[in-house]
Amino acid sequence: MCGIVGYVGDKQAVGVLIEGLRRLEYRGYDSAGIAVPDGAEGLCVVKRQGKLADLEAAPELAGLVGTTGIGHTRWATHGVPSERNSHPHLDAAGRVAVVHNGIIENFHDLRAELESEGIEFRSDTDSEVIAQLIGLELAGVPGADLAEAVSSVCRKLEGAFAIAVVASDSPGRIVGARRHAPLVTGVTETGTILASDIPALISETREIIVVEDDELVDLRAGSLVVSDIEGRERVPDTVHVDWDVAAAERSGFEDFMLKEIHEQPRVIGDTLRGRIDTVTGSLRLDELRTSDDELRSANKVFVVACGTSFHAGLVAKYAIEHWVRVPVEIDIASEFRYRDPVLDARTLVIGVSQSGETADTIAACRYASQLGAKVVAVTNVVGSSLAREADAVVYTHAGPEIGVAATKTFTCQIAALLVLSLYLGQTRGSLYPSEVRGVLEQMRRLPEQVAEVLDDVDPIRAEAGRWARVHDAFYLGRGPAYSTALEGALKMKEISYLHAEAYPSGELKHGPLALIVEGVPVISVVTAGHVQKKTISNVAEVAARGGRIVLVANAGTDMGGLLPDTVFEVPETHELLAPIVDSVVLQLLAYHVAKQRGCDVDRPRNLAKTVTVE
Ligand code: AGP
Repeated sequence: MCGIVGYVGDKQAVGVLIEGLRRLEYRGYDSAGIAVPDGAEGLCVVKRQGKLADLEAAPELAGLVGTTGIGHTRWATHGVPSERNSHPHLDAAGRVAVVHNGIIENFHDLRAELESEGIEFRSDTDSEVIAQLIGLELAGVPGADLAEAVSSVCRKLEGAFAIAVVASDSPGRIVGARRHAPLVTGVTETGTILASDIPALISETREIIVVEDDELVDLRAGSLVVSDIEGRERVPDTVHVDWDVAAAERSGFEDFMLKEIHEQPRVIGDTLRGRIDTVTGSLRLDELRTSDDELRSANKVFVVACGTSFHAGLVAKYAIEHWVRVPVEIDIASEFRYRDPVLDARTLVIGVSQSGETADTIAACRYASQLGAKVVAVTNVVGSSLAREADAVVYTHAGPEIGVAATKTFTCQIAALLVLSLYLGQTRGSLYPSEVRGVLEQMRRLPEQVAEVLDDVDPIRAEAGRWARVHDAFYLGRGPAYSTALEGALKMKEISYLHAEAYPSGELKHGPLALIVEGVPVISVVTAGHVQKKTISNVAEVAARGGRIVLVANAGTDMGGLLPDTVFEVPETHELLAPIVDSVVLQLLAYHVAKQRGCDVDRPRNLAKTVTVE
């Protein structure tokens, strides 16, 4: 997730761009850059690795007086955070500059094609292919039109993109385009503006035009034209936005946590994007730098992580053992590093960390490397310490998460871990291609299933309303649903400060059942799976002790005579995929309970987003 902005008008572009980028910094903050066409100099590009403040401090900005420009604030997805990978990217001739938000799925193929024609790439990003392709469309074609070139290139791109393009041969003009990534535009008192998100626009205009998928926008100082990819113009409607800047950064949601919960359909899609070969239906993991032979020779897998990442890792244990038939151990990173684990060169260690900077997880993976194991990092932050030190990386593409409580990064971690598990199964031949395709088919439906859960929030809000006098709550699940229960309880604890514990449902009668008294809420995950009936009979034991029965279940589940107090119905999927769908209900339950208790959900007490000390 990156931020893009473009302005053409009467004001000096630099000021408008920097102001817009400041409003978009929450979308990405590992580097920033701008491009301003200047008649005499061609395209002037200034980029800095680091925060926007580093770009603002660049002395070169002072000389940029042009009134057209594009800017970018980056959250790396392909290529580590560095000046070379920062946007804007230029074509080979340095006449076209592009800023991009999204992921180009077919960039490997496009890049290989361009390289075979002798084009040298200057970055490791997927985005640079866009600049190079547009440059080629324009090169040597007298009178070639920028909008037509952009439109032609968009037809070649697969994946998600919102782009803004300037060219030295088209002064006073910006062309933007989008597919599956947001782009908004508008007319200001002094010109026209476009951006990946509303906050960047509202200091210039509050009348916003939302660009649709496969549409182009052609911005000049005195005109703004919206057309489809074939060049057919559309008369756009404007939407009046009266959010203040802070609300706009949260896309109108009350908190970042709620916004991030609602981003899940899109970011789960982004995490899966580009990993599935659309022709063969098989899996592609570009960032996995280990050889297939190394993956084939592994005779044991360890998963190490902390907190929410540990819960996501638990799903990988179930998935790898089931699909790959290799023994998997999972451990809390702070335990693993001090407990003398048995591992060697044939052990594969999967380190899971949203931030990639958690001290214990890094130390655990380092220790595993010293013992000769191969380390695969699953992380959300490109170029993080964990990503740099690991032998291979699978990124989660969830975008920056501002809320301290992990939500979208949890479901994306599971998605990435499932892809990795399937890849291991595919590579080692423990799964038939048809089995892989069958699971992938169900994975493709996850974004829409999560969106369905988000649309059905009333029963969750109503249940939260019954928690005014609750002090303790229990969460139950078996198999992968145990991970959902653990994460549900952690969310409740950290943002509402209620005591919440999760147990594998079969473990209840070995002690915790003593805590079940009249009215204590017990949230049980009983979605479809081979142990569903067993969980339902454990829930009956709770009901017999007077516990309040709250279920996460699929429609039409046979409850075997059980009479739950509340049922949250969720769409059915494969039981290993279900934690992605089911945990969204528990995120929302924790959120609404916490809000009713007046808690600050984005900044829970005593907690830090990234724990860089042991
Ligand atoms: C969960 O809401 C917390 N943010 C916390 O448990 C977190 O998952 C843990 O600190 C690990 O962080 P990491 O994924 O960045 O390594």
